[in-house]
Amino acid sequence: MRVYLVGFMGAGKTTIGRLLATRLRVPFYDLDELIAAAEGRSIRQIFDESGEQVFRSRERELLRATRFTDHGVIATGGGTFAFDDNIMFIKADGFSVYLDAEYRVLMRRLEGKTTERPMFKDEAAAAALYHHRARYYRLADFSMAISGAETPMEIVERLLLHLPKACFGPDNALVQ
Ligand code: S3P
Repeated sequence: MRVYLVGFMGAGKTTIGRLLATRLRVPFYDLDELIAAAEGRSIRQIFDESGEQVFRSRERELLRATRFTDHGVIATGGGTFAFDDNIMFIKADGFSVYLDAEYRVLMRRLEGKTTERPMFKDEAAAAALYHHRARYYRLADFSMAISGAETPMEIVERLLLHLPKACFGPDNALVQ
């Protein structure tokens, strides 16, 4: 079974995902990286040159391509789990985890990194987006509260306690 990490920009989906995949001995995929590779341009370029709709349709397409892997950890983009069809796809045969980071933690982490994130227009728009999306993120199978005090490794260790056995790699042995 695949694990899908969902949550707002800056929640740590990629960092946590990479570590979690190593611990589970399963492949790691970052949806934004798959999109950028498929398009041969950065996420920022896709937004600027083709618009959000083109990005979202690529995102949908590549999200669905993850069904070809039995086991894996997938870091989604901040907007992926805010569309009903994507939510249904993920929930159909994946295990979704919401990295529920406090808003002030997100803003601190995003400082200086907003140019790579076209959906981060300004603080007010980000706050509105955060509140709008929170209701979708809460539909995930499991929510992990993230305060900013734990290291990524500590978060992964805590998360491992809540994952269904089916998410572990075929030999079921955790890498230390
Ligand atoms: C987006 C978040 C980004 C990326 C794209 C759109 C969003 O991913 O998918 O810029 O709509 O919130 P991260 O959450 O990894 O920054």
